Amino acid sequence: MLTQPSYRSLRNPAVAIVGATGAVGTELIRCLEERGFPASSLKLLASARSAGKTMGFRGQPLPVHTLAEDSFAGIDLALFAADTETALTYAPLAVAAGAVVIDNSSAYRLDLDCPLVIPEVNLETLAWSRGVIANPNCTAIITCMAVAPLQRRFGLRRLQLSTYQAASGAGAPAMAELLASTEAYLNGRAYTPQALKHRYAFNLFSHDTDIDLQSGYNGEETKVMAETRRILGSSNLPVGVTCVRVPVLRAHAISISVELDAPVAPAAIRECLAEAPGVRVVDDREANHFPMPAEAEGQGDVLVGRIRRDLGDPSGRSVALFVAGDQLLKGAALNAVQIAEQLLIA
Ligand code: A2P
Repeated sequence: MLTQPSYRSLRNPAVAIVGATGAVGTELIRCLEERGFPASSLKLLASARSAGKTMGFRGQPLPVHTLAEDSFAGIDLALFAADTETALTYAPLAVAAGAVVIDNSSAYRLDLDCPLVIPEVNLETLAWSRGVIANPNCTAIITCMAVAPLQRRFGLRRLQLSTYQAASGAGAPAMAELLASTEAYLNGRAYTPQALKHRYAFNLFSHDTDIDLQSGYNGEETKVMAETRRILGSSNLPVGVTCVRVPVLRAHAISISVELDAPVAPAAIRECLAEAPGVRVVDDREANHFPMPAEAEGQGDVLVGRIRRDLGDPSGRSVALFVAGDQLLKGAALNAVQIAEQLLIA
């Protein structure tokens, strides 16, 4: 159960979505509609490239406006689903205009004045302010959804992750590139990558964020390590991660080794995860049926399975898990809307 926060302050807010035409923005519109979010109005904002477009909300066509300095007059809640630079420039303007901002970029995630929130995990950090609330990195959200219940019950010592990340994390152009390059490959046509650096069809590659030449970690890995520590409230937690982009459209999978304070039987792990909100155990050894992107797609829940001892840890304290979650839903839009729901006056 989520605790009842004391900061509920919005009633039928006027809502704006920045980046409404993108992969996450489109899902934000859908989540607001499907969850019956009590918006009094919805304003769609994107770049000048989208001027003249319309998108549907509650059966009505809405125009897409070009984001500008004065876009936030009269807006109570601004959901940002654009890039970091846009968030850094426009979120302060939205706040100055009186809006609460929930930002999906990495701009504010490590800013200690901005809570970094997964409602099922650390709702207590959502102290009310008319400021910016950060929506975590998709891989950090999906990881924490599976790990936080174990941390709470058994204590957490260390995390080791390997990710299998979908195209959607790199936005709508990368999803289009996966489809177009696959079609070209199947038809024997050449395809020059545009959104990503490497061939995407029938291939996988180290995550496309810039790599730090000193440490050898890429930007995604650095975000996942820092954000996971912050969300789990454990600044010294040892976390190792390798992030890989795979040819899947919109759901991430992650192989996780979780070192707990003491050895715990897999059955107790399964029981703990089965009780966790927003988590669904998919762990059928007989049928060899475990979490898959194809089954996570379109789902709000994070799927968790392959629950077993990690035999690579001689102490016996580590459990191995395999998880999958929809990057655009729980990894982005759904989590943002769940945060927004926590701000509503009951
Ligand atoms: P647009 O469609 O007009 O380019 P994605 O992550 O799927 O690529 O989506 C990014 C979203 O952010 C899109 O809606 C995109 O709008 C929007 N966007 C990108 N740059 C800007 C900008 N400078 N100002 C406003 N919106 C932007």
